[in-house]
Amino acid sequence: MGDARILVVGSTMIDLIAYADRLPEAGETLVGKRFQMGFGGKGANQAVMAARFGAPVAMVNAVGDDSYGASHLENFKREGIDITWMRTVPGSSGVAPIWVDGAGVNRIIIVPGANDATEAAVAEAAVREFKPTIVVGQFEVPQATTLAAFRAARAAGITTLLNPAPAAPIDPELLAHADWVAPNETEFTAIFGGSAIGPDGDERIRSASDRSGNRLVVTLGEQGAALAIPGEPIHRISAPRVKAVDTTGAGDSFLGAFSFGLASGLSPDRAAELAVACASASVQKAGTQSSYLSRDEAAALAAPYLAGGTR
Ligand code: RIB
Repeated sequence: MGDARILVVGSTMIDLIAYADRLPEAGETLVGKRFQMGFGGKGANQAVMAARFGAPVAMVNAVGDDSYGASHLENFKREGIDITWMRTVPGSSGVAPIWVDGAGVNRIIIVPGANDATEAAVAEAAVREFKPTIVVGQFEVPQATTLAAFRAARAAGITTLLNPAPAAPIDPELLAHADWVAPNETEFTAIFGGSAIGPDGDERIRSASDRSGNRLVVTLGEQGAALAIPGEPIHRISAPRVKAVDTTGAGDSFLGAFSFGLASGLSPDRAAELAVACASASVQKAGTQSSYLSRDEAAALAAPYLAGGTR
């Protein structure tokens, strides 16, 4: 497994998921089929998936002093995630009301609550003290906090991976401190302009990587992912055909697996192949973290990749 140590500077949410064949129009009330409540938040999801591969993982975040906050800390302990740099602050923990339609497609509103109190100084301390091999961030805690962590990581020669989700204007300094940027199609357009899909998608991804100097891994749902390294041709990783039940958190399972793969010394291609396989498994089950591969399943998936080494 090498020296993989993964630090996630990111969010926690309680996901409140309603499933219905179709979603309501404005002013309409619909009868749903099912409801599921569970642990979510893009940061937490990515941390949990990475931890299930067996790597040491630590989390930097703030939860509220409510029952949701306490249950997040318990969940992280159960998952073997280091919570030294988790803080509890007065107020509400983050929540995410989610709708999932009959095709498994979701719509999400996040209410960040305590996530907004995730502090830059704590993130810097975590980089210094946990000594990760990769630092992973998203957009559900303040960008200034993620930037502080990325600056500390850069200064120490540690790889940084930014998942710019949900789509929002990006601080150019943060982009400049990201070795890897991992947007989906919507986030790619928000940051780099133009579409990552369609006949010219590859060219636009390649040009975005050349212009920005970032390594890109663009997640493309059922079309898999595209990898762009400045100065190199695009690599496409296709996804197996599967029946999607719920796509919630699939991108996060990709990121958890990808960061584990990179931190374990896999080539970017092999890390992305592992990540596509991991995300494909997650869309076939309902819920967010509840849809992720178990520790045993993750170990079985990763074994051939780790045995093959880098290439
Ligand atoms: O990416 C899925 C996640 O987005 C959900 O768990 C929800 O909490 C939001 O953060």
